[in-house]
Amino acid sequence: MNQQKTFLVFGATGQTGRQFTALALREGHKVRAVARDPEKFDLAGPDLEVHQGVVPHVIDLDGLLQDVDFVVSMLGNAAQQRKQAMNTAVVRELVPAMGRQGVKRFLYQAGGLSKPPGRRLSPLLWMLKHTVARELIGQHKDNEAVMRFLADSACDIEWIVHRASINPNGRSKGVLRRSERSLSLASFEDCAEYNFRTVMDSTAFHTCDLSVYRKA
Ligand SMILES: NC(=O)c1ccc[n+]([C@@H]2O[C@H](COP(=O)([O-])OP(=O)(O)OC[C@H]3O[C@@H](n4cnc5c(N)ncnc54)[C@H](OP(=O)(O)O)[C@@H]3O)[C@@H](O)[C@H]2O)c1
Repeated sequence: MNQQKTFLVFGATGQTGRQFTALALREGHKVRAVARDPEKFDLAGPDLEVHQGVVPHVIDLDGLLQDVDFVVSMLGNAAQQRKQAMNTAVVRELVPAMGRQGVKRFLYQAGGLSKPPGRRLSPLLWMLKHTVARELIGQHKDNEAVMRFLADSACDIEWIVHRASINPNGRSKGVLRRSERSLSLASFEDCAEYNFRTVMDSTAFHTCDLSVYRKA
C-alpha cells in the first residue's frame, strides 16, 4: 500500500458501496461509512467507522469530513428518488462542507442512462432510458441534477462522475476504463474497483464518463 488514506463513503451498505468499502479496507485504507442502519452492515474492522445517517437528513457533514481524503457516493434509492432528489440535496450540502473542511476529491456514481450536462445521450441510450429503464427515471433526474450542480457550482473541487452501467447478476470480467461513448454492463465488483482507482486519477477530474471493459 502507498500512504493510508481516509474515504468518506455514502451508500457503503449497497451493492457497489459494500464492494468498494471492502476493497478500500483490503488495500489498507480507512473508511468512514454513512449507513441508514449500521447494525445491518456486515463489514467490520479497526479501519472502518460506521455513522448512522439518512439522506437527505445527513447529520454533521463537517464532522464526517474531518481528516478525509476522498468522498465517494454510491447512494441510490429508486423509490425515494421518484419523489425526491435526495442525492442532489445531499451533494448541495456536501460540496460547501468539503470547501470548509479543505477536502478536494469527490467521486459520484450515477447511471449510464443519466445525461451529462452539455451532452446528448446516444439514440440507443435515450431509447433504453425511456422504455425498459423508465421506472428509474427519478434516479436519472436526480443524477442529472447532481451533474449540473457539480458542473455549474463546484469548480473548486476535484469531482468525478462515473456513469456506471451494471449487470446486477454479472461476474467480474476484467478491468474497466473510462470512456466518453462506449459502455459495458459491468459487475458491482468491477464498478467498485473502477471507482477506487478513478477517485485517485487526476485525468478524470470534471468528467461524467461511462466505463467499458479494457480489451484483453
Ligand atoms: N444497480 C444498478 O443496476 C445500477 C446501474 C447503474 C447505475 N447505478 C447507480 O449507482 C448507484 C448505486 O447503485 P447500487 O445498485 O450499488 O445501489 P444499492 O445497492 O441500491 O445501494 C444504495 C445505497 O444507498 C443507501 N441508501 C438508500 N437510501 C438512503 C437514504 N435515504 N439515506 C442513506 N442511505 C441510503 C442504501 O442503504 P441501505 O443499505 O440502508 O438500503 C445503500 O447503501 C445508484 O445511484 C444507481 O443509480 C446502479
